Amino acid sequence: MDPLLYLLCLLSLCPGLAALSCPQNVNISDGTFTLSHGWAPGSLLTYSCPLGSYPSPAWRLCKNNGQWQTPGISWQSTRRPTQWVKAVCRPVRCPAPVSFENGIYTPRLGAYPVGGNLSFQCEDGFRLRGSPVRYCRPNGMWDGDTAVCDNGADHCPNPGISVGTARTGSRFGLGDKVIYKCSSNLVLTGSAERECQDNGVWSGTEPLCRQPYSYDFPEDVAPALGTSFSNLVGATNPTQKRTENLGRRIQIQRSGHLNLYLLLDASKSVSKEDFEILKDSASLMVDRLFSFEIKVSVAIITFASRPKIIMSVLNEKSQDGVEVINSLEKALYKDHENGTGTNTYEALNSVYLMMNNQMQRLGMETMAWQEIRHAIILLTDGKSNMGGSPKPAVDNIREILDIKQNRNDYLDIYAIGVGKMDVDWRELNELGSKKDGERHAFILQDTQAVCQVFEHMLDVSKLTNTICGVGNMSVNASDQERTPWHVTFKPKSKETCRGALISDQWVLTAAHCFHNTQKEDRQLWRVIVGDPNSQHGKEFLVEEAVIAQGFDAHAKRSQGIMEFYGDDIALLKLTQKVKMSTHARPICLPCTVEANMALRRSPGSTCVDHEQELMNQQDTAAHFVALNGDKLSITLQTGLKWTSCAQAVSQNKKIFPDLKNVSEVVTDQFLCSGAKKEDHNPCQGESGGAVFLERRHRFFQVGLVSWGLYDPCHGASDKNSRKKPPPGVVARDFHISLFRLQPWLRQHLDGVLTFLPLNRGH
Ligand SMILES: *[C@@H]1O[C@H](CO)[C@@H](O)[C@H](O)[C@H]1NC(C)=O
Ligand SMILES: *[C@@H]1O[C@H](CO)[C@@H](O)[C@H](O)[C@H]1NC(C)=O
Ligand SMILES: *[C@@H]1O[C@H](CO)[C@@H](O)[C@H](O)[C@H]1NC(C)=O
Ligand SMILES: *[C@@H]1O[C@H](CO)[C@@H](O)[C@H](O)[C@H]1NC(C)=O
Ligand SMILES: *[C@@H]1O[C@H](CO)[C@@H](O)[C@H](O)[C@H]1NC(C)=O
Ligand SMILES: *[C@@H]1O[C@H](CO)[C@@H](O)[C@H](O)[C@H]1NC(C)=O
Repeated sequence: MDPLLYLLCLLSLCPGLAALSCPQNVNISDGTFTLSHGWAPGSLLTYSCPLGSYPSPAWRLCKNNGQWQTPGISWQSTRRPTQWVKAVCRPVRCPAPVSFENGIYTPRLGAYPVGGNLSFQCEDGFRLRGSPVRYCRPNGMWDGDTAVCDNGADHCPNPGISVGTARTGSRFGLGDKVIYKCSSNLVLTGSAERECQDNGVWSGTEPLCRQPYSYDFPEDVAPALGTSFSNLVGATNPTQKRTENLGRRIQIQRSGHLNLYLLLDASKSVSKEDFEILKDSASLMVDRLFSFEIKVSVAIITFASRPKIIMSVLNEKSQDGVEVINSLEKALYKDHENGTGTNTYEALNSVYLMMNNQMQRLGMETMAWQEIRHAIILLTDGKSNMGGSPKPAVDNIREILDIKQNRNDYLDIYAIGVGKMDVDWRELNELGSKKDGERHAFILQDTQAVCQVFEHMLDVSKLTNTICGVGNMSVNASDQERTPWHVTFKPKSKETCRGALISDQWVLTAAHCFHNTQKEDRQLWRVIVGDPNSQHGKEFLVEEAVIAQGFDAHAKRSQGIMEFYGDDIALLKLTQKVKMSTHARPICLPCTVEANMALRRSPGSTCVDHEQELMNQQDTAAHFVALNGDKLSITLQTGLKWTSCAQAVSQNKKIFPDLKNVSEVVTDQFLCSGAKKEDHNPCQGESGGAVFLERRHRFFQVGLVSWGLYDPCHGASDKNSRKKPPPGVVARDFHISLFRLQPWLRQHLDGVLTFLPLNRGH
């Protein structure tokens, strides 16, 4: 090509010869935009506005002819759009009530601004159900629930008239029907028609009229999916009664089994980056789901013009979280490069075919088949544009699972739209299940929001069983919620040591905490479990203290070693069982069956396997809890690095003036940290606390804080100040290794925890 022509083309002044680019006059006042592929054809421009406003239009697509396609303007039209639509941020509004029976509402406006209130009052003789005051949220949705003035005179409760809907039908007897419509410009989600059923419950789900641009916040979606999972998790404990009926959602009975089908959209409009985020979110959810030891099979299907089955429930591996995640990692965006449409029908039909195969295999009449509960989570970024309506596939699924009123619990379909482009409330609503008091159709603003939903949907706060090593990893969780096993000691009055709950009644700590105390004094100790700074903390008395007999700080005085911390370990039995909550829950001890399940290892695993899995590197990142509750980082050094880590002890002539043999002080019972510059050093009062690591979203205690060469809190004014070691001062910290103290732990925790064999052949 002629160099000049080439240059012209680079500058996009070369129509028809090189790739065109779309014009850049796309600014939005007050908002921002992103481009998926720069100004080149195929690039998707997405507008964003500040919270409480929405962009109009929401997006533009750069067409092959170098023109922007803008929603609302027919893209089939070949003539150049005569009018350019400038993008603006418009204020979000919440819908206005159309009518309200048996009461009044104030204020009466045509539309309500974000932050505006709506109050309801009933006439005499009617009782108000739902929220008496609602306020307009920045996503265009009212908070709270529909206010209804009911006199409770009929077979079914008054179903109300949700804000923005108009209802026909005002009889609420058995078999009566009510029909809802939305005012213009609003989209109806939920059921347009409901019938009063013999169980006194309206069929379907409450209709809501939504602004087309309205969307959901992750914190609204997570509980809707999540209570389900926490019920399911709670259901694995045979002793636990289901006290609260917190929304049924995805649940299984103990005898039952859950099939979870995850459908991930990989069509053209989903960028590769977004697809990766969806995959990561799905991995995260699967990982956490399997961390709860429940009977579940997970199918993974990616789809564009065609579905691709990444994992089928017919595959035994679908019951193994690690296998499911491995298969998810192998799912490629490129798998769909030759057909980039959105064929939701085929995706759902592949689920139907999978169900059909499983039914053939198990036998239609068998309990094994009939007892399986099915949950489908469809994640899509736009309405289907090929394969026809996806509805018939849903109908087939309902038919094969024999879904009728008494089997309604056996199927849940969650339809989740992601993004701003072409997600269609109507289609999502058509696909999602409709059940009284529940929601199954959602729109999230971006893939990050999906990640947040999946991260928070497994709400362990309602778990009452003693599942180990579950900490809340949310940024907003309190310190104690992050490390709920952490306990503080109060001997008489002053706080001295820390410890870790390892069951609902036993605390693991250091022996030296009780050095110099008389047996009678031990009666006065208090163990503070939960958050000491709030009503979530509770003091417990000690019923029994087991202090390692081998511990004797003065054992080596004759050798010139003033203090020696071998066997620095103790167990305390509390007088009462601790009630499990987000603030109090045991940590997992390696080499136990409980930890084995949390690590999702095969039942034949041994203690050696656990040590290799948890500590196999020369540097292992670990943590301890500081006096102020912060989780601080350390690096445990093993193998060859352990020797040099420990060797530093001999440099401290102040504490060890005449040390010839480091192994006399640092025996193989100790883990070593503090050799790295970024390592924190535990302070004196932090002794006895857990040294722990995170694996697969669960926490494992590998050691306990015993002693060190440098105390960063020495002379500090308060709990929050720690001093870095001054130049020339060597800091090293030593922690009792729970792997080395296995015989002692086994001897004293028999019947409390179930231990694995130490190694093969034992
Ligand atoms: C769009 O906005 C940016 C930043 O405000 C500005 O630099 C640019 O000149 C604007 N472009 C047009 C075409 O108005
Ligand atoms: C809505 O009600 C709340 C609480 O009653 C009040 O604080 C707020 O100012 C009200 N907002 C408006 C816009 O009236
Ligand atoms: C897409 O089509 C090309 C050309 O026919 C082929 O080489 C490629 O393997 C196909 N990709 C997939 C994922 O099927
Ligand atoms: C974690 O803590 C946050 C903030 O306290 C809370 O909203 C959330 O529900 C908790 N999550 C779990 C899984 O307990
Ligand atoms: C944490 O809290 C802040 C402020 O309340 C909130 O904006 C944010 O969304 C929360 N984050 C999570 C992950 O819950
Ligand atoms: C150092 O002490 C350890 C433990 O007491 C002992 O096993 C080892 O033989 C000693 N090494 C030397 C060189 O004395």
